[in-house]
Amino acid sequence: MKQIIQAIAVHKKKILIGFVSIIVIIQFFRPERNDGSVSSPNDITVATAMSPEVKGILETSCFDCHSDRTNYPWYTNIQPVGWFLANHVTDGKQEINFSQFNTYSIRRKVKKFHEISEQLEKGEMPLDSYLWIHRDAVLNEGQKKILMDWANKNRMILEKKYPDSVKKNRF
Ligand code: HEC
Repeated sequence: MKQIIQAIAVHKKKILIGFVSIIVIIQFFRPERNDGSVSSPNDITVATAMSPEVKGILETSCFDCHSDRTNYPWYTNIQPVGWFLANHVTDGKQEINFSQFNTYSIRRKVKKFHEISEQLEKGEMPLDSYLWIHRDAVLNEGQKKILMDWANKNRMILEKKYPDSVKKNRF
């Protein structure tokens, strides 16, 4: 241990230069952007009834990872921040892509509405690591409730309208 500390002390300058070089080099490896232009007709904000509040919350707090249109603040151009976000977008869209929500089956929609309120209740979404820097996406209790009520209401409407398709495939 002592030797390592001594070695670091001796090579301080080289280590610093090495570190800075790595930071500079990784800036050239930019992840692909998730820049879907205008909202598609299958976008949840178009295809599902929602108040302006719900729309605002979804777009500010969820769309960066769960839609085809990520908003990229300046710091997401810095690596590795951009890489982390790109990873979240890939994984997040696999779970739910709000831009394609209307293409989902009734069963999948019901399941997703259920998961949305569950995730909010547990405080798992938006992801903590994202909120550290995206402070505007933090949800207060009132906003969480608005979104949960909206998800539950939509789930119940579908369950009532399509009792058979939903019941058979109860998750
Ligand atoms: C920083 C990116 C990010 C943001 C912002 C985000 N999510 Fe997610 N979400 C993910 C990722 C990644 C997954 C898949 C892995 C996981 O479950 O952690 C996921 C999974 C989910 C799931 C499926 C979880 C399950 O039950 O398996 C739901 C539902 C969800 N998110 C809802 C939301 C809602 C609603 C918001 C906004 C309030 C939101 N997410 C914001 C990244 C994000």
